[in-house]
Formats: sequence, C-alpha cells, structure tokens
Amino acid sequence: MQTPTTPKSREAIAAAYKSEPWWYDVRGFFILTFAYNSTLTEQLRFFGPNFGKQHLEVACGTGTLLELIFYWRRWKKLPTVQVVGVDYAEPMLAGARHRFAGKPDLEFLHADVAEMPFAADSFDTANVANAVHCFPDVDGGMRGVLRVLKPGGTMAANVLLFPRGRWPLRPLAERINRWGMRKGILFTPYERDDIRQRIIAAGFEIVTEAVSGNCYNVLARKPAAQ
Ligand SMILES: C[S@@+](CC[C@H](N)C(=O)[O-])C[C@H]1O[C@@H](n2cnc3c(N)ncnc32)[C@H](O)[C@@H]1O
Repeated sequence: MQTPTTPKSREAIAAAYKSEPWWYDVRGFFILTFAYNSTLTEQLRFFGPNFGKQHLEVACGTGTLLELIFYWRRWKKLPTVQVVGVDYAEPMLAGARHRFAGKPDLEFLHADVAEMPFAADSFDTANVANAVHCFPDVDGGMRGVLRVLKPGGTMAANVLLFPRGRWPLRPLAERINRWGMRKGILFTPYERDDIRQRIIAAGFEIVTEAVSGNCYNVLARKPAAQ
C-alpha cells in the first residue's frame, strides 16, 4: 500500500488549483489515464445518466467534464436540466463561469462541499466527479451531499483507490499520486471498503458499485423519507 504524505489543509488544496484552466485540463487527461486507469468514455457513461431536474455538480472544477457530459446527453437525447456547480477553488470556478457564460440553466457558487449554502432536500441528483479523494474532510463532504439531496435522490461518485495492477502501471500511478499529494491536488487515495463504509456511515444506501481501473464507481441514494 502507498503511504500518504502529510495531509494538506483545505486552503492549501484550493491554492493548489490555481493553475490556468487549460493546463489543469491537460494535466487532468494524464491523471485520468495513468493514475485512475480510466477513460473519458467510461466517465461519460457513468456520470451522464445521473441528472435529475435539479442537479448539483459537486467540485465542478472548470466544468470541462460537465460540458462533455452535456454533449453526451444531447447525443443520447436526454433532457436538459437545471444545474448548480460548486467548487472550493476560485480559479476553477472562474473557468467554469467563462465556459458556460450566458447559459441560464447553470449557476456556479464558491462553497466547501462540507458547508454548502443550500437548504436540506434541494437537489434530485448530485455528481462528484474525480473529487472525493481531494476532500480533506471526506466524511463532512459526504454528509454535506446527503443533506442537500432530496429523499430518494442519488449521488454518483468515482473515488481514487490505492493503485492496483502490475508494473509499470502500478508504480507509475503511485508516483503520480505522490506528486498529487505533495502538490495538494490529491488528499489521499482510499481502500475500497474504507470509502464504501464512509459513504454508508454518512447515511447513503449503495445502489450500484464497481471497481474499474483504480477507481471505485458508486451510485448511492439518500434513503426515502419514512
Ligand atoms: C480533480 S478536480 C475535479 C473537477 C471536475 N469535477 C472534473 O471532473 O473535471 C477536483 C476539484 O475538487 C475541488 N475541491 C477540493 N476540495 C473541495 C472541497 N472541500 N469543496 C469543494 N470543492 C473542492 C477542487 O477545487 C477541484 O476543482
């Protein structure tokens, strides 16, 4: 197992996301391929269907993936929805606001996932793409998402696991993760059972789950009101 380096504060993490949005996107492609061992197509298929009428995009970053998901949904003839995106890093939000300027169905707010300024039971769905492992307070983050989902609402999340597989992919992924943790763009990878238990402890029910590459892909639901 990989040993985490010293954990970073959330301010340090926000500061780590101050690169130019274009560089962030290029870097993201390499991380997706070599640390997550995943592909864009896999992410579109996983996150694309989880959009209810009122959707929350948690840790939306520059909105690159969100925009590609909108193209994918249009191609699949799926309905347009109201989306609120939140992120803790202002430079990322600036990228998202620029990308979606003039789109009335989209709004972007600066917020920590653990302290989002929304009433309880506000959203039908939430996606947390490529970000759970960036949260310094993952338990607070999961409780935060649960609180703002409506009963029966679903959260799709992919979580980076400690690298698996053989040489050279595993050491390469471990190296990228160590670099990400030093930089502050990765808080920690997880063991699958650890993050699964944390999601359940926050109050979610697991709907579907799968490990693919170095990712745990989970669709979880806020229990329906009793
Ligand atoms: C790897 S990026 C993923 C961005 C986007 N979801 C995507 O898939 O392209 C992780 C994002 O999580 C955000 N983030 C990290 N900790 C956060 C927190 N506590 N609350 C809100 N956003 C946070 C970072 O600012 C960053 O934009």
